[in-house]
Amino acid sequence: MKPHKKGNIFIISAASGTGKTTLSTDPNRKLIGDDEHGWDDEGIFNFEGGCYAKVINLDPEAEPDIYGALTLEDINDRLRRRAESAGAVIDFFQSNHEGDLVDVIQEAQGKADYIILNAAAFTHYSIAIRDAIAAVDVPVIEVHLSNIHRREEFRHTSVIAPVALGQICGFGAESYMAALEVVLCRPEEI
Ligand code: DQA
Repeated sequence: MKPHKKGNIFIISAASGTGKTTLSTDPNRKLIGDDEHGWDDEGIFNFEGGCYAKVINLDPEAEPDIYGALTLEDINDRLRRRAESAGAVIDFFQSNHEGDLVDVIQEAQGKADYIILNAAAFTHYSIAIRDAIAAVDVPVIEVHLSNIHRREEFRHTSVIAPVALGQICGFGAESYMAALEVVLCRPEEI
């Protein structure tokens, strides 16, 4: 058991949609004009370089039609508040660059007790990120907003999963919240 009570958690997001604070989940907001982008039937907002799961009822008080007001900052605030209420500390990182993600995973050694990682499309092919995870002594919880197993076949493979503690996907922003709950339920592991 390390001296701090519940640990430090690194939340690392590569998914473009999870990292850009300017991105709104408002389905009425036109980010990209062509037909291939926009909300699909599964509640995924597809855009250049990534996708973003529609966040519905993240705030239990919110009406579904106001989920558009939710931004990454809102999600991060919820994560931060939940962590703080349990005495944990979160550091957030976002990058769209593979090398940056490798760097921050390596930096987690000795600093973080857990990593919650959304490696976005890198999930499916980045041996560099996989090796970085394998090399550090920090458990990684893999998260995805969407259920990668019910999407295109190429997303069914995660090269990260075999070196991760576990994977949570398909619950939108709640995938992150659920991963955080796992961490907070396992103080004895820290
Ligand atoms: C994602 C799933 C990946 O397949 C995709 O490339 C992303 C987002 C998710 O959070 O659902 O960028 O990681």
